[in-house]
Amino acid sequence: MNHLLEINELEQRFDVSPGFFDRLKIRNGRLRYQKSIVHAVNGVNFQIDRGEVFGLVGESGCGKSTIAKTIIKLYEPVAGQIKIDGEDITSYDYKKMIPVRKIVQMIFQDPYASLNPRIKVLDIITEPMAIGGAALGKAEIREKAMELLRRVGLGKEHVNRYPHQFSGGQRQRIGIARALSVEPELVIADEPVSALDVSIQAQILNLMMDLKDEFGFSYLFITHDLSVVRHISDRIGVMYLGFLVETGPCDDVFLNPRHPYTKALLSAAPSVGEKLHIDPLDIKGEVPTALELPPGCSFQTRCPFAFDRCIQERPRLISRVSDRMEACHLLDN
Ligand SMILES: Nc1ncnc2c1ncn2[C@@H]1O[C@H](COP(=O)(O)OP(=O)(O)O)[C@@H](O)[C@H]1O
Ligand SMILES: [Mg+2]
Repeated sequence: MNHLLEINELEQRFDVSPGFFDRLKIRNGRLRYQKSIVHAVNGVNFQIDRGEVFGLVGESGCGKSTIAKTIIKLYEPVAGQIKIDGEDITSYDYKKMIPVRKIVQMIFQDPYASLNPRIKVLDIITEPMAIGGAALGKAEIREKAMELLRRVGLGKEHVNRYPHQFSGGQRQRIGIARALSVEPELVIADEPVSALDVSIQAQILNLMMDLKDEFGFSYLFITHDLSVVRHISDRIGVMYLGFLVETGPCDDVFLNPRHPYTKALLSAAPSVGEKLHIDPLDIKGEVPTALELPPGCSFQTRCPFAFDRCIQERPRLISRVSDRMEACHLLDN
């Protein structure tokens, strides 16, 4: 059976070079032309199966959103492969992506920025249904929008309003209804509650989980918030500097993190580390910039356990214990 989503050796880079003359640098007495490339996503592999919630975690800037946007082809991947239900969509153009967009939908962090302010809620919700030619008539579409609104906790009276007439939580409910309007199989949610008040976050998370059970889709759930990811994920992947460093069943990883970065990340989160009695692991320094990746392991500049091999050889994400994977030479010893 095919995985619902499979990404293999995915790479994404951004050219952030300044203007032509600023790129010219003198090095060793010679004029050189230098580009600045952000290595946002580096050889990432993971799969998501039907009905599964895969949580992708890691600090801001580690490449989570870039992976999401590359999967839905807002960015063309630089290298690697993206498969949806076994179908390789890596090189699909806009037209070929139309049917794929009915299978994979996205919910964004900032519901205000992602909803067109000049369009009424009815049209916002039904827009994805119309892409590629609507199968339903106008009355049916309206009825479906009403039903979706009800299902996400909004009323019929909201259908003719504009996004600015809603609160943040309500706008995210609209974003969810919009994503679900095409009955997707995979919903990619990128920090869907991070912009909301804490009191609203739990409501929206519970709604998202209820809808998953009811509709039976899967989530790629992206967040930097460990308590959120723990609450909802079946499996998680931990990212650092554009690399996936550890994956495994959510509870196992939280109870027994194996990669030093995962240990550091979990032990640094007060709500998580204390409760789980993870020994605090102090890591030194700051995240290097994705402009200049360190040689070898991406985490070697900060890892308290780094040894020669970590500097020389980039560790691959491999499985040593059933269901778990880590990219760490330490675990080979
Ligand atoms: N459109 C872009 N142009 C240039 N750099 C980008 C772009 N999008 C993201 N980046 C860079 O790529 C890296 C990963 O960013 P992002 O995927 O947004 O991380 P996250 O979602 O984990 O916070 C960061 O260094 C960020 O500055
Ligand atoms: Mg992001």
